[in-house]
Amino acid sequence: MRKRSCGLLAVAALLLGTASSLAGDADPQEFTQIERGRYLAILSDCASCHTVPGSNQPFAGGRPIETPFGSIVAPNITPDLETGIGAWSDEQFDAAIRKGVGRNGSRLYPAMPYNAYTKMSRDDVVAIRAYLNTVKPARNAVVANTLPFPFNIRATMRVWDALYFTEGDYRPDPKRSAEWNRGAYLVDGPGHCGACHTPKTFLGGDKTDQYLRGSYLQGWSAPDITNDARLGLGHWSEADLVSYLKSGHNRVTAATGPMGEVVTLSTAYMTDPDLSAIATYLKSLPGKTESASPLPGNDPAMIAGAAIYRDQCSACHGLDGKGVAELFPSVADSSMLRSTDPTTSIRIILRGARSVGTKAQPTASGMPSYGRQLDDGEVAAVLTYMRNSWGAAAGPVAPEQVSKVRADTALRQD
Ligand code: HEC
Ligand code: HEC
Ligand code: HEC
Repeated sequence: MRKRSCGLLAVAALLLGTASSLAGDADPQEFTQIERGRYLAILSDCASCHTVPGSNQPFAGGRPIETPFGSIVAPNITPDLETGIGAWSDEQFDAAIRKGVGRNGSRLYPAMPYNAYTKMSRDDVVAIRAYLNTVKPARNAVVANTLPFPFNIRATMRVWDALYFTEGDYRPDPKRSAEWNRGAYLVDGPGHCGACHTPKTFLGGDKTDQYLRGSYLQGWSAPDITNDARLGLGHWSEADLVSYLKSGHNRVTAATGPMGEVVTLSTAYMTDPDLSAIATYLKSLPGKTESASPLPGNDPAMIAGAAIYRDQCSACHGLDGKGVAELFPSVADSSMLRSTDPTTSIRIILRGARSVGTKAQPTASGMPSYGRQLDDGEVAAVLTYMRNSWGAAAGPVAPEQVSKVRADTALRQD
């Protein structure tokens, strides 16, 4: 974990270096377009998929992106003429980013989030291209498609597009403030937050009626980020949300795994007004608003869980569950802990977690791993207890759910 986040910081440093060091050659107008493109590329997190973590060749591709159907390797998008996109026209580039159409007219897989990027304007996309033209060309030929039949046939993506893809720029809602509209554009467009936070159909399309209510990806559960009081960000202030996206931490929780990457490469570099706009927008989404009642204290899992929590966990997270702000998450307030899908919480308890370092907060505290100390029944019990204490209520966790995550994470490298 630690090694990986150092790699990410190195990529982030490279990204920030590139445009400014080259901009000296460009005329002022071009420079502004390049700077705008650089910022849009950060908002869109293009580097995360198109760079192998830890490598010093940003955008050179080669990173496998895991999907439920198999892995798709992100291609080289440096300006290299043969193995990158140096020879592409702006039209071809725009078609890839906003329509999901590859250079030779074939369909791209939605592992490339064109269904979100379509909300950007053509101007935005041309600016990203202008910026990418300034990065160091890297020779790296990538074979993107390693999917099994029938998904290896790109034409099948026409069906996917017909079912799940709506092309078109972001349309502002005139009844809402400029800040709200900016937030909606950032979340649905470049930020592609729904790619991980909106539940998916069995074909990987968005379940639009459950917009941002939490989903599963690559061995992690991404929680509900609507304003729902029980499952979402209802207990977070806008300032909590801004601090989380900027530093990776706040009084409630810490970012780790795929979200740690989103923070280190993207949201940590967003401007304060953009972070506030995202907060304004997310806090305006009502969510599911369904009530639930906690399990009774005399339930056997609650009794066993309370004892484990007191002995093993309360030293850091506190008997009152409040933790220590910015250091140990307040498990009493964490909505993620109460997610319908407990995968991320199980995973953190089994394997431990080290959250990300950012400029706003360079050092992060760590959560020890309990995978050896606690068996599946014990992890299930302590989570069941935590999900139903301090005024919260969420379904119990079964030992089988823990076994599944244990087996699944054992097969993964990170
Ligand atoms: C979530 C991961 C992810 C993110 C984020 C992402 N891409 Fe991609 N991109 C991919 C994958 C995977 C492919 C290959 C898709 C395929 O082969 O069908 C791809 C394909 C492409 C292609 C087509 C290249 C070719 O050789 O066919 C371009 C251009 C591209 N991406 C540019 C970008 C830009 C610019 C951004 C940011 C605005 C971006 N990508 C963000 C994963 C991503
Ligand atoms: C690559 C997948 C991915 C993308 C893209 C992504 N997230 Fe996340 N996010 C996750 C996962 C997984 C978690 C849970 C892990 C964690 O908390 O560290 C998470 C956690 C969060 C949390 C903490 C919620 C809680 O209750 O603890 C917030 C807030 C959040 N994301 C906001 C966003 C926003 C805003 C965006 C878009 C700018 C975004 N995410 C994009 C995967 C993603
Ligand atoms: C040495 C201090 C320490 C101890 C002991 C500890 N934790 Fe943690 N815990 C942390 C830290 C730090 C994090 C944040 C890690 C991150 O996400 O990077 C964390 C995160 C978590 C989370 C994720 C919460 C969220 O919303 O992000 C859960 C769940 C959790 N711990 C459960 C437990 C359980 C169960 C035990 C006892 C078996 C325990 N912890 C013991 C320090 C500790």
